[in-house]
Amino acid sequence: MNARDTLKINADGHLEIGGADAVELAQRFGTPLYVFDEAHIRKMMNAYKSVIENFYGGNGLVLYASKAFACTAIYAIAKQEEIGVDVVSGGELYTALSAEFPAEKIYMHGNNKLERELAFALDNGVKNIVVDSLREADILDKLAAERNIVQNVLIRINPGVEAHTHAFVQTARTDSKFGFSVADGTAEQTVKHVLSKSNINLRGFHCHIGSQIFEKQSFVLAAEKVMDFAADIKEKTGVEIKELNLGGGFGVWYNDEDPKFKPEDYVDYVKALIVAIKDKAKKLKLSEPFLLLEPGRSIIAEAGITLYTVGAIKDIAGVKKYVAVDGGMFDNPRYALYQSKYTALLANRAAEPATEKVSIAGKCCESGDLIAVDVALPKANSGDVLAVLTTGAYNYSMASNYNRNFIPPAILVNCGKAEYIIKPQTYEDLTRNDCIPERLKK
Ligand code: LLP
Repeated sequence: MNARDTLKINADGHLEIGGADAVELAQRFGTPLYVFDEAHIRKMMNAYKSVIENFYGGNGLVLYASKAFACTAIYAIAKQEEIGVDVVSGGELYTALSAEFPAEKIYMHGNNKLERELAFALDNGVKNIVVDSLREADILDKLAAERNIVQNVLIRINPGVEAHTHAFVQTARTDSKFGFSVADGTAEQTVKHVLSKSNINLRGFHCHIGSQIFEKQSFVLAAEKVMDFAADIKEKTGVEIKELNLGGGFGVWYNDEDPKFKPEDYVDYVKALIVAIKDKAKKLKLSEPFLLLEPGRSIIAEAGITLYTVGAIKDIAGVKKYVAVDGGMFDNPRYALYQSKYTALLANRAAEPATEKVSIAGKCCESGDLIAVDVALPKANSGDVLAVLTTGAYNYSMASNYNRNFIPPAILVNCGKAEYIIKPQTYEDLTRNDCIPERLKK
């Protein structure tokens, strides 16, 4: 087994997470089940927080990118840890506000925010909105004027840095639906456009170069380019930015092709960014900006595992062995979308060595419904509890009711105690919003 510091094998040879026996969790809560280790979430939030406190004089704020996993409990944890959050839709904002998350620590993103989402944000005092189109700047200015307020905004800049990751999650290449390109001059035009408006106040710039990235240099380069751009803007307009938001994107361990980062390694990444920003600020005669970071995956991914029960097993001699579980692409579409890799183990026989490579199949009516391929496991039997590791980020948040399967519930585990943070769905939930027009009832 790949021992994460969140996971252990107990005396019964069972997988343990957050002090709780995974087999008992599966029995008590049923499967499929998302399980989150609270201590790890808090540890990661604090690792990011501490680096800003210790190496940047506290002149910044960590924002948890809640798209990675959003539910009221996670916003409650972020609130207790006194970090901020980023939200990308009215739904995430509503969820954060439902958890009484303070609006003055919420930043809102999105390449096509709807007018009603922007109005909702303004009406609730969202601290800062990251502008991603000229149209949005105009709408925001109008909405702010109607409310007689001045709304703080950042502009999303595309510094044109290529990060080596899966193409679908690269966001700062020249060909991207996100941000204004520095290279083609649209970033500068947008700054001037925003500065010409009276009800939006340009606080600074934002950039995010992609996700699941391990190359320190990509982050550093992006930060340097945005600082260069800030100096250029200061020279041309006399306006100096106050805030710099460098997005998220730090990679996590899914399987042994990935480095196994510890919280200290993420701290090192951020330190490198801070050094680069300080250097640039000095060279370019800019004041050191208020620094925002938006890690999502690296806070929550490794805190989460998914528990399944093994059902049908199909061994196609000389071709492949499928181990089917009671979940599938409806709880984790990442293999279907990105051919993502995972590590799995049998939670009820966690100490047994792997003896074969299998594909973990879901229960949806579609061949591509796989959770992972070529996963090393001991010989699985129907009824075994299968744990897929590092599923905390972008699993629940991209889950669906495909084939009218239930989106699994989620539990939070701490010192052996487990509680629901997302309750199970019921058949009634699935038909709750359905309606049959009268004419179809005859
Ligand atoms: N900030 C912005 C503006 C972002 O677009 C993202 C992620 C983040 C922060 C957080 O990045 P992280 O630290 O989580 O890497 N569904 C994909 C991931 C899409 C990420 C989108 N943006 C997946 O399952 O891998």
